[in-house]
Amino acid sequence: MEKHFHFSNAHKDLIARDAESVLGWRYAPGIIFESGRGSTITDVDGNEYLDFTSGMMCLPLGHSHEELTETLRQQAGRFVHENSWYSNPQIIAFAEALTATLPDGLDVVNFTVTGSEANEVAMRMALGASGKHDIVSVIRGLHGGSLAVEGLTSIGGARRRNLGPLLPPANAPAIHAPLCWRCPINLEYPACGTACLAASEELIDQTTSSEAAAIIAETMLVAGGMIVPPREWLPGLKDLAARHGAFLILDEAQLAPARTGRMWGFEHYGVVPDMVTFAKGMSAGLAICGVVTRRDIAEEARGRAGTPWAGTYSGDPLPAAVALKQLEIVERDDLSARAEKLGARLTAGLKRLCQSYEAIGDVRGQGLYSMIDVVADKKTKRPDAALAERIRYNAALEGLIFICVKNFMRFCPPLIIAEAEIDAALAALERAIKRALAGYPRDVDFRASSSLAAGAERRAGRAQ
Ligand SMILES: Cc1ncc(COP(=O)(O)O)c(C=O)c1O
Repeated sequence: MEKHFHFSNAHKDLIARDAESVLGWRYAPGIIFESGRGSTITDVDGNEYLDFTSGMMCLPLGHSHEELTETLRQQAGRFVHENSWYSNPQIIAFAEALTATLPDGLDVVNFTVTGSEANEVAMRMALGASGKHDIVSVIRGLHGGSLAVEGLTSIGGARRRNLGPLLPPANAPAIHAPLCWRCPINLEYPACGTACLAASEELIDQTTSSEAAAIIAETMLVAGGMIVPPREWLPGLKDLAARHGAFLILDEAQLAPARTGRMWGFEHYGVVPDMVTFAKGMSAGLAICGVVTRRDIAEEARGRAGTPWAGTYSGDPLPAAVALKQLEIVERDDLSARAEKLGARLTAGLKRLCQSYEAIGDVRGQGLYSMIDVVADKKTKRPDAALAERIRYNAALEGLIFICVKNFMRFCPPLIIAEAEIDAALAALERAIKRALAGYPRDVDFRASSSLAAGAERRAGRAQ
C-alpha cells in the first residue's frame, strides 16, 4: 500500500534539537525513531518503516527479539561489566561457541569493542608475529574509521579529507578489487583468467618493502560496491599471501553470522584465513567484536605490538551473554539457509527492477545482502549518486529504510524477515524509483546528507 509520511511538529522539533546538540552524519529526511520489533522500526509519530539496514547491519534477529531481550534482562541484573584483566563464564562460552563455527585451527579470540579495533588488533598480531610491517589492502575495501584502519580503507570520499599525516604508511600498498562489472583493468571475466590477481602481485612487488606482514580483505567488499569476488579470486589471494610470507586477514564485519547464506562468508570459497575479524552482526548490536586466529600466531605475537589486546570493555559479560544467545539462535534456526532462500527472492525482485529501469545498472550481492548500482545509463555505467540519494529519500517516505552511499543502495534486512515484507519493500522501492525519476524531491539539498555523497557528486561524470 502506498504511504507518504508527514512529520508532526513534535517530530520536527526533535529533528531540530538533534541538529543543535548531537554531532553526526544524518540522512535527509532526518527521522527520529523510538522503537523497533522484528523487521520494523517506528518513528516518534508512530509511522512504521521496514528496516533494510538491520540497524547498522547488526541485528540478524531483528529488533527486540524476545529471547535476546530476556537474556539481556537476566544478565543485566547479575553482571554487566568487569575488569578486563579477569574473565567471566559468558565470554568464555561465547569464545568457545564462535571458534566451534570456524575451521580447526582458528581457535583463539581476542575481543574488542568495535570492528575498527578488531582490524587494528589483527594488524598488531600480524606485525607482532611476522616482525614485518607492510599491510596490503584491497582498493574499495573498508576496514573502519580509527586511524590505522582508515589507512587500509580506500572507498574514497570525504572521510579521508584533512587526515593526511595521521594516516599510517600502511595506506600505500593496495591491490585491485575483483569488481568484474567495472573491471579495474578493463578485461572480461572469465576470459581474463582473474588477471587482476597477477596485476595485484606486481603492485605488491612495487609498493611494498617486499616484506608484507599481511593482506587484509573483506570476503565480499561491501561498502566499495558489494563486490562478490569470482570463485578463483580468494584462493588466488591466499596463494599470493603465502608466496609473500604474509598472513591473510579476512574482515567479516558485514557478513558473519549467516548473512551470505553461510555462517562465514569465506566458506563459499573453500579458503581458510590466518585471522578473521567479526563485528556488527555477530555483536547483536551490543558492541562485542574481535579477531579469531591460530594459537601459534597469537603466541608468536604475544608481548609484541601490544598483543594480546585488552581495552576497557573487551570481554564484558553483558554483551557476551547476548551475542552468545544470538549465535545459538542463528544456528538453531538455521538462518544461513533462510538467508540463502530469502536472498534469492530479494535478488530476483531487484533484478526485475534492473530489467525495467535504465538507472538500475547492476544488482550484486550474496545471500540476504544485495546492492543496486545506480547509473545514468547502462551503457556508460556512469554512477548517479544524486539519483540514488533521491530514491533513498522517497523510499524513506514510503516506509522503507536502507543505506545508500554514493551510487550504491544496499539492502540488508534482518534474517528473520518474512517473504511478504520483502515483497512490500520491493513494491515501495519501485514507487520510490518512479518518484525519483520524475524529479522528486525537488527542493532537498543532499550534499550534506551523507558522509560520502558530496564527494561523489562533485566527481559526477567520472567513472568510479
Ligand atoms: C567491513 C567492515 N569492517 C570494519 C568496520 C568497522 O566497524 P566499526 O564501525 O564497528 O568500527 C566496518 C564498518 O562499517 C565494515 O563495514
